[in-house]
Amino acid sequence: MYQVVPGGAGGTITDGVPIKKMDRDTRPLVGAGVIGVVLVIAAVTAWCYYIASLRKADLLKTELLDLNKDGFLIRNQAGGIVLKMGFRSGTLDLDTCSKEGVILRCSRSFAGKVNFFIMTVKPKETVMCYRVRWEELESDRPVEHAMSYNQSHWYGGAETAVQHWPIAISGQQAPKPFVTSDVYSNRNDFGGILERYWISSNATAIKINDSVPFHLGWNDTEKTMYFQARYQDSPYKPAPGRPPYAELSYRVCVGSDVTSIHKVMVRRYFPKPNKVPEKEMFRYPIWSTWALHKKNIDQEKLLLYGENIRKHGFNCSHLELDDRYTSQYGEFEFDIEKFPNVSLMFQQLKAKGFLVSLWTHPFVNYDSANFGHCVQKGLFVMEPTGQLPALVKWWNGIGGILDFTNPEARTWFLSQLRSLRHKYGVSSFKLDAGETNYLPWQFRTRVHLPDPSTFTRRYTEMAIPFNERAELRSGYGSQNISCFFRLIDRDSVWGYELGLKSLIPTVLTISILGYQFILPDMIGGNSYRNRTDGNGKLPDRELYIRWLELSAFMPSMQFSIPPWEYDDEVVAIARKFTGLHESLVAPRVIELAGEVLDTGDPIIRPLWWIATSDEKAYRVDSQFLIGDDLMVAPVLEPGKQERDIYLPVGRWRSYKGERFDNKEPVHLTDYPVDLDEIAYFEWFQNLIVEYCPDVINWKKRNAPTLSYKGDTNLAKALCSPSYSALCPPACPSAEEPRQLFCLCAKVNQALRLHSQTDKAQGPVGSRRYLSVRVELAGTSSFSWLWQHLSALGSVQPWGG
Ligand SMILES: *[C@@H]1O[C@H](CO)[C@@H](O)[C@H](O)[C@H]1NC(C)=O
Ligand SMILES: *[C@@H]1O[C@H](CO)[C@@H](O)[C@H](O)[C@H]1NC(C)=O
Ligand SMILES: *[C@@H]1O[C@H](CO)[C@@H](O)[C@H](O)[C@H]1NC(C)=O
Ligand SMILES: *[C@@H]1O[C@H](CO)[C@@H](O)[C@H](O)[C@H]1NC(C)=O
Ligand SMILES: *[C@@H]1O[C@H](CO)[C@@H](O)[C@H](O)[C@H]1NC(C)=O
Ligand SMILES: *[C@@H]1O[C@H](CO)[C@@H](O)[C@H](O)[C@H]1NC(C)=O
Ligand SMILES: *[C@@H]1O[C@H](CO)[C@@H](O)[C@H](O)[C@H]1NC(C)=O
Ligand SMILES: *[C@@H]1O[C@H](CO)[C@@H](O)[C@H](O)[C@H]1NC(C)=O
Repeated sequence: MYQVVPGGAGGTITDGVPIKKMDRDTRPLVGAGVIGVVLVIAAVTAWCYYIASLRKADLLKTELLDLNKDGFLIRNQAGGIVLKMGFRSGTLDLDTCSKEGVILRCSRSFAGKVNFFIMTVKPKETVMCYRVRWEELESDRPVEHAMSYNQSHWYGGAETAVQHWPIAISGQQAPKPFVTSDVYSNRNDFGGILERYWISSNATAIKINDSVPFHLGWNDTEKTMYFQARYQDSPYKPAPGRPPYAELSYRVCVGSDVTSIHKVMVRRYFPKPNKVPEKEMFRYPIWSTWALHKKNIDQEKLLLYGENIRKHGFNCSHLELDDRYTSQYGEFEFDIEKFPNVSLMFQQLKAKGFLVSLWTHPFVNYDSANFGHCVQKGLFVMEPTGQLPALVKWWNGIGGILDFTNPEARTWFLSQLRSLRHKYGVSSFKLDAGETNYLPWQFRTRVHLPDPSTFTRRYTEMAIPFNERAELRSGYGSQNISCFFRLIDRDSVWGYELGLKSLIPTVLTISILGYQFILPDMIGGNSYRNRTDGNGKLPDRELYIRWLELSAFMPSMQFSIPPWEYDDEVVAIARKFTGLHESLVAPRVIELAGEVLDTGDPIIRPLWWIATSDEKAYRVDSQFLIGDDLMVAPVLEPGKQERDIYLPVGRWRSYKGERFDNKEPVHLTDYPVDLDEIAYFEWFQNLIVEYCPDVINWKKRNAPTLSYKGDTNLAKALCSPSYSALCPPACPSAEEPRQLFCLCAKVNQALRLHSQTDKAQGPVGSRRYLSVRVELAGTSSFSWLWQHLSALGSVQPWGG
């Protein structure tokens, strides 16, 4: 650890000077004078030497971080380097650095005064965090740090048009504003869902502070990402009354493995939803009019769509009536040419059991009846002087954009949506857009927005009253909006650019960013002209089927191009997979969705979630987990009826019934998967019960007691009163054998609620092994208990 010891060295040097010898000298005065001079020279020399050596100090240390003038590096507990950061905008003058307690502080760079510090915080035994802050004290001087990504895999940041998992950087990009954008139209921008958060395979996470005017760049030659703070030539504005001094501040946290460090970060830095959207939205498909009809939708077509859904025996969470049902954009009433009798239509749909949600957006076009009203009331985002509404161009024309920082605009917008709900029983809304690229470059809002992406957050709040079946597509700090977030429109293509292969990387990315109620957009893509693989009218049949299979394993399914547009075989496959989604996937997803409220953990998880020490798992972008115990490996290549599959350590049962008991990860090559199949593997051993015959006397208690080594949440959950509901109506007394059954039911239930636990419990180092110690009174019959546990399935003895 680095410490400054001012003046200490001088004293030490003089100690060695033989003063006593002088006393014996016969000419004490002269002698003393000479010696005095020598002493002074010695002291001065020593002092200078000390100062020089201090100047030469080129390394300061705090905990496991080494700071030098050009940057710093951080090691993990084992001593391996897990993060390297370079200072690109300036070099620190280390002479101005000092350490007080946990804070290492420097006051100058070679370009001038700065306010620099690194503060260490240890939130948990296994986690070390560093708060880093570099603030310039002169206007218009950017701060830029370059993080090396050589030798590690990174995840997070933003939804992008071409999406890879892990992040794949190519070429060079000067730092550009890290703000939300519609990547369907602007394919090189950052996407509509983004967070200033990244995590690496080296169990290192970085979170950039909200207050930073943050720009992101990269350089694949140097293998670095550039983190820059600046105000000039930027949509970020200093807070009112603050000078435009750029400040780059962030936290780096290092843990023992990637999954646990992610959990730490999510628990501390991400807001969480407070409710789960409507369960039917997880269970049954949503049927949208968009890809099928585009803007040519009308009353007759919508009714026919509903009839066809029923005719072919499909279930439906709700129908989504997309663009365009109004005559102008910015109106909230149906176009009577296309929808001559709206009330009747809604009545008929309701009679057939359909709920309907409507498409909406934040724009009011100049030619709509509401435009004048909004101008007059000042409901739009204004141009910078605040005198006139700013006009913006979007994909459906030109208009004003509602200023969601203005309470009157919020109220007006919500009252329009509510009136649709009351008038027709509209169930919810698909809130489109919301990205900052639809704001003018320079603008003024009612509440000053230092960070333009805050606009996105304000817009997403509009969905809250309709959360049960709402759809959003943009988000920034919006993890606590308890709604489904959909991926930006997909093209009907196989590839990584908004195609089928981009689906898993994008879903995993936004999961890592804390958004778990995910709608993967429409099955088969949007069938946009010129952006569709296939021979014209419909997306390629095989692509459609593979897309359908993958969607069935996502939190929610959305159809638009209906399967009956193809043929009976496709309809049969669609039935099979909507059925499988409902029976196999939805129950797990709904349970995991409940956990999100507490934990923020992903529902859809990357393979490394359960294989943190396996380098290969970090590169798998075509497989994923639902929770910890269902692993999915869809076919994503045209013309293929087989694929390679990476199967992590553990006991897996394939959908075909094969069992794998892997002590090592296994690579299955050319594993056959027919066109109407998707490969998936389930854990067939979920619970390991450890017997301990000699402990506890539970006769003393009302309820059986479980002591559990490991996850205290589980132990708490098991002991909580809400679990007695799982027992038979009259929870039997301790002496009765039935009590054991009651106990088992609890164990099983709790297991599914907390299926991932600490890996320390596992015999093979896998976090999948849950060890529950069931402690019983001395004479209880363990074989009896065992019989009943086994009867519940998924339980095997271990260590008993
Ligand atoms: C960082 O991660 C990479 C890739 O997973 C791995 O090869 C390397 O050993 C890790 N380094 C440390 C210090 O853990
Ligand atoms: C992070 O930003 C907040 C304001 O958003 C500020 O109060 C805090 O001091 C900042 N933290 C650091 C380390 O700069
Ligand atoms: C990227 O790195 C290379 C090599 O260091 C350098 O020549 C180039 O200028 C860098 N590009 C940018 C945009 O900084
Ligand atoms: C990345 O790491 C490799 C292996 O240590 C090294 O050879 C290479 O020079 C590094 N590249 C950069 C740009 O640092
Ligand atoms: C809509 O349909 C209902 C029921 O058939 C009818 O009573 C009503 O007059 C119709 N309204 C219009 C505007 O056609
Ligand atoms: C979401 O979290 C943010 C930041 O913690 C908070 O300001 C906001 O009020 C929360 N919104 C909701 C809907 O809970
Ligand atoms: C789409 O394809 C048509 C016909 O091939 C062509 O004329 C048109 O320019 C294409 N449009 C775009 C946006 O590429
Ligand atoms: C529709 O839902 C019912 C009830 O949950 C179910 O039995 C049926 O299999 C579902 N149909 C399809 C095609 O998924």
